[in-house]
Amino acid sequence: MTNPLEDIERVKDEALAEIKSSADDQLESVKVKYLGRKGTLTSLLKSLGGLPSDQRATVGKAANEARVQVELALKSRMGTGSAGTKTKEGFDPTLPGRIQFPGTRHPISYTIQRLTGIFERMGFVVADGPDVETDYYNFEALNFPPDHPARDMQDTFFISGDLLLRTHTSPVQIRSFEKRKPPVKVIAPGRSYRSEAINARAYCLFHQIEGFYVDTDVTFGDLKGVLTAFAKAYFGPDVRLRFRPSFFPFTEPSTEVDIRCYLCNGKGCSLCKYEGWLEVLGAGMIDPNVFESVGYDPDIYSGYAFGMGVERLAMLRYKIDDIRLLFENDIRFLRQFQF
Ligand code: DAH
Repeated sequence: MTNPLEDIERVKDEALAEIKSSADDQLESVKVKYLGRKGTLTSLLKSLGGLPSDQRATVGKAANEARVQVELALKSRMGTGSAGTKTKEGFDPTLPGRIQFPGTRHPISYTIQRLTGIFERMGFVVADGPDVETDYYNFEALNFPPDHPARDMQDTFFISGDLLLRTHTSPVQIRSFEKRKPPVKVIAPGRSYRSEAINARAYCLFHQIEGFYVDTDVTFGDLKGVLTAFAKAYFGPDVRLRFRPSFFPFTEPSTEVDIRCYLCNGKGCSLCKYEGWLEVLGAGMIDPNVFESVGYDPDIYSGYAFGMGVERLAMLRYKIDDIRLLFENDIRFLRQFQF
């Protein structure tokens, strides 16, 4: 009788050599020859039952190892999710595909689209204006006289002479009024710039959305209605608004609008600095001086305007605690927003 361990070794070597030298379309029959129900290796394994019990453990182990090796060798050449089956052109259809990162919308782009959409559904049309503005559009026509202390509210990047980077989107009001006759109902998203110390809440570049409506008989009630509808659409139906008297040169009366803090529900917490309210936008009734600078008759027309910071709204909505994250382009941060 032959030595069973030698038999196993021989059959295994034979099988491995055959797997190596066979063409792709022969592999299936090689598999049957050794591992099929009546295959050589299978029969060998079956015959182990007849061995004396002191040999069974060692021989059994060797036989199993041989089977695993032959199986692996077959797998690495055949399909079933493993590599190796190359087509004539050298393309291997069994390799895993390359992972694609199609990218997502930036949270700021997404927020602008959402906000703009809300106002478009209320009848506003989209307009824009240049980032590089003149002193006239950014300040003077908006009722900030030269050297007026109200200009101190906005730390400006001056370019040269009369040119500056716009500090807000309000100049689009003037540009739209010059081009159109009332009724004018416009929403104007865009970049704004301020020469501010950069920290978790302020950046030199940010985005605003300006909205305004001029017609006969536009009232403060209309403004409240539009802003309340907006806040419910953006923050949810349970949002509570507070209108606080304020000052802007181009509106009279002016207001700042707060929403009740969503984190503490008005009780006071670190997010709302224990106020219970979060400031979200500025607004008011357009000052007659603005109408005069664009040739609208303030005795016939009235209108409201509002301006909001996109970063602030995105940060509140998505609980982002540092504005700089929105400008650093760190993929680990951006990937969390799958809009
Ligand atoms: N432009 C103002 C700012 O950047 C925001 C603003 C306040 C815009 C009141 C408005 C408004 O249209 O009515 O601080």
